[in-house]
Order: sequence, then structure tokens, then C-alpha cells
Amino acid sequence: MKILGGYPSLRLRRNRKSAWVRRLVEENNISVNDLILPIFVTEGKNKVQQIKTMPGIYRYSVDKLSNVINRASKANIPLIAIFPNTPKSKKDFYGSEALNENNLVCKAIRKIKKINPEIGIMTDVALDPYTSHGHDGIIKKKKVLNDETLEILSKQAVLQAQMGCDVIAPSDMMDGRIGVIRKALDKNNLKDVQLLSYSAKYASSFYGPFRNAIGSSQKNKINKKTYQMDYRNSNEAIREVALDIKEGADFVMVKPGLPYLDVIKSIKDNFKIPVFVYQVSGEYSMIKNAIGNGLLDKEAVIESLISFKRSGASAIVTYFALDIAKKLSN
Ligand code: PBG
Repeated sequence: MKILGGYPSLRLRRNRKSAWVRRLVEENNISVNDLILPIFVTEGKNKVQQIKTMPGIYRYSVDKLSNVINRASKANIPLIAIFPNTPKSKKDFYGSEALNENNLVCKAIRKIKKINPEIGIMTDVALDPYTSHGHDGIIKKKKVLNDETLEILSKQAVLQAQMGCDVIAPSDMMDGRIGVIRKALDKNNLKDVQLLSYSAKYASSFYGPFRNAIGSSQKNKINKKTYQMDYRNSNEAIREVALDIKEGADFVMVKPGLPYLDVIKSIKDNFKIPVFVYQVSGEYSMIKNAIGNGLLDKEAVIESLISFKRSGASAIVTYFALDIAKKLSN
């Protein structure tokens, strides 16, 4: 682009001189329509537990969900995402609790649909909340098996959809899962259920606080590098997305968020599909703690969310969703 003239006839500061003109020329913005709220559920009754690793974020027992669902509905948040804190006693080597129609996720879906049938519900498809070893798939001889895992995942997806889930979000990173799940949903006459693929999900250190929140952290830190993406790569994300689109994804997701803005941008440049981003637990906790310590101004949250919009994201999964939605509606 050729810029005619230059200083002193051109002064870019003129368009920044006051709030009204900055509002007129803004290129990006955030609204409540862009927000997806993650919600943690736990066993028991009458429980609202502060999560140690995530200040200001709670686990709710199913009977207490109206507490947070009503706030989300009032704030007009379009979609919520459910994550279960499965008790140790219900975890096993195969993650069989994933297929129990009375597991926490299934109970939560039914409850939320009763509280507010209008709010969208998304659920994760992966085995890590249910396996004793914390991996997202079935293990044999220390290997996470791909095709054997797909069979369980497709049953898990069908079950969640039958319970009333609107958006199925496979976060397991097995090859071929989108196609297999789409087929299973269609076969069970669940044709309107959408698929949000965690297409570019990186093996990241930023998931630490989440693993504590759902109780999947292990004594010896586990490594998911044989299935989640290598953070040194970005072209590979394009291949992942291309395959998922072909297999039937309705939207694709990049995760984590802030360290991967370039990935969001290049997916958006290559495919005209809605791209979502997950601002994960580690990002949340860092920003939240820094604000708590007075190191960062509260506006850092909006700045981080707008950076996702700038890079091309349509919607953002963020633990800040409730706070920000409230702020935006004022
Ligand atoms: C599990 C899953 C993870 C997150 C969402 N779904 C963790 C992982 O892959 O280990 C992370 C979310 C966060 O850190 O906020 N498949």
C-alpha cells in the first residue's frame, strides 16, 4: 500500500484525539454474542466450591446450577460449556463412566435444559475426565490407541446429544474423530447437532489449572504430545482444519488462545469457516492473578479478548465470560 504524503500533512494521531472519534474508527469490538462460558460441575448436593487454581471460578453441584445458568441467561450469553469433576471412585482405565447416562455431564445437560431451554449447551468429547490415568483415550502398552478410542468417543457423543446437548466438541485430538462422530450422530437421527472441532489443540502447559479443576492432574505429570499438536508448528494446523471441515465440522477451534493468535489468523485466511478460540485456564489464572496483585489493570481482560477478534475469531471460550458480559451490558 502506497501512503501519499506523510508527516506533517498526515498525522495519524488526529483520529485518536478523542473518545468519539476512536469509537467511530474502531476496527474490532467485542459483544456478548462472542462469549462462551465454561462451567464446572461436581458430584453431591448444595455445593459451590472455589477452584484453588482458578480464582473466582467455582464448581457447582447439579442442584446449584441454576445459580450460574440464571446469571448467564440474564447476561444473554449464547452458549455454555460443561466440564465434569468426576470423583476418583468413578474413574477407571477405560473411562467407562463417559458412557453412563447418569454421569455428571448428562445430569447437567438435562438440568440446564429445564432451567433455560433457550441457552446453547456444548460438551467436550474426550475421556480424560473419566480415565484413572488422565489421558484422553484408551491406553495399551503405554500407547494411546486411536481407532479403539474413536468407538467410545462416538458413543459418548451420541449419548450427550441424546441428552439434549446442542454442540458436540471433540477435544481428544484422535485422527478421524469428526467423521466418525458425524456419522454416528446422523445414524441416530441427531442431524441438527453441531460439531465444534478442537482442530488445532496444542500440547500446552497452559492447561494446568483446568486439570486441577476437573481432578485429572496426575502425580507424575502426563504428556499428551503423541496426540495434541506440537507448539512449534502452524502449517500442521491448516491440515488438521482441512480434514475436520471435510469430515463435517461446523466450526473449528484453536486452543490455547493468546500464544496462538497467528494460528487463528492463518486458519481464517485459508478457510471461510467460523473459528473459535479457547482462552484456557492458565491464561485466565495468569491475568486474573496479575489483576488481583495490582500488576495489571482490569482492562487487560478486554484487551486479550479483542486480540482474538483482531486475529479473526468469531467466538471465545473464556472464564471471564460472565464478568465481561455484565460489563458489556452496562
Ligand atoms: C480435555 C480438555 C482440556 C481442556 C479442555 N478440555 C485439558 C487437556 O487437554 O488436558 C483445557 C481447558 C483449560 O485449560 O481451560 N480434553
